[in-house]
Amino acid sequence: MRRAVIAGNWKMYKTIAEAVEFVGKLRPLVAQADHCEVVVAPPFTALRAVAEAVKGSRLAVAAQDVHWDKEGAHTGDVSPAMLVEAGCTHVIIGHSERRQDHGETDENVNRKLKAALAAGLTPIVCVGETLAEREAVKTVEVLQRQFQGGFAGLTPQDFSRIMIAYEPVWAIGTGRTATPEMAAESHRYLRGLVRQKYGEELAGRLRILYGGSVKPDNIVGLMAQEEIDGALVGGASLKADSFSAIVNYRRA
Ligand code: 13P
Repeated sequence: MRRAVIAGNWKMYKTIAEAVEFVGKLRPLVAQADHCEVVVAPPFTALRAVAEAVKGSRLAVAAQDVHWDKEGAHTGDVSPAMLVEAGCTHVIIGHSERRQDHGETDENVNRKLKAALAAGLTPIVCVGETLAEREAVKTVEVLQRQFQGGFAGLTPQDFSRIMIAYEPVWAIGTGRTATPEMAAESHRYLRGLVRQKYGEELAGRLRILYGGSVKPDNIVGLMAQEEIDGALVGGASLKADSFSAIVNYRRA
C-alpha cells in the first residue's frame, strides 16, 4: 500500500504573516489525518517562518523550486542547502509554471532533481501536457520525453526517494479537472515507464500525485483510483477549510 500525500502549492500567495496565521489554523484541522502525509509549499520568503510554525505537527514544508548549484552567481536563486537550513524537507521541481514562465527544461529539472536528492530533500517532480499537446494526442509522447530527460541518470536508490506529480497544464487553475479515469490513465503510463527502467518493485512503491483543479468535491473520486496516490493542490490549498477538507477526504 502506498501512503497518500496531499500537498498544497501556494505559488506566489501569502505574506509571512498570512502564512503563519494559515498554518496555525490548519494544524488542528489536519491533526487526525493519519491516512496521509501533508505538505505545504509556501513562497521562499515564508519558508523559515512556516517551518517554525509547523514544528511538532504532521505538516512538512516544501519549497517551490531550487537551483542545482551549492552556491554561486545566480541572482534570484536558492540552493538546496539553503532550503534545508530554512526547514524544508521537500521541494517541487519542474512545475509547468516554471517551465512556461522561466524556460525550465527537462535538463534543468534533472540537475535540480539530483542536487535536491544530494541535499537530502524529497523532490516532487511535476510532469504533464499542455492543452495543445493533449488535443494533438501527444500526451504519451510528452510524458515520455519529460520522464526520459528529467529523470535521466538516477540510481534506483535515488529514484526510491522521489514523488511524481502529474499535472496536465490545461487543468491547472482552470476548474477543468481531468476526470479520475483520465488522470489514472496517465499515472498508469508513467508507472509503466518506471517499471521498464527500474523494475516492478520501485514502480509499485512510487507515489504519483495528481494536480490540476483538485477541490474538496472531486478529491474522493480522484483518490478512489488505485493509480492516484495523492494530490498537489493549488488554489484550494490557500484556505484552511478547503485544504483540510481535501486532506481529510477519507473522513468526509
Ligand atoms: P490548481 O489546483 O489551482 O489548479 O493548481 C494546481 C497546481 O498547479 C498545483 O501545483
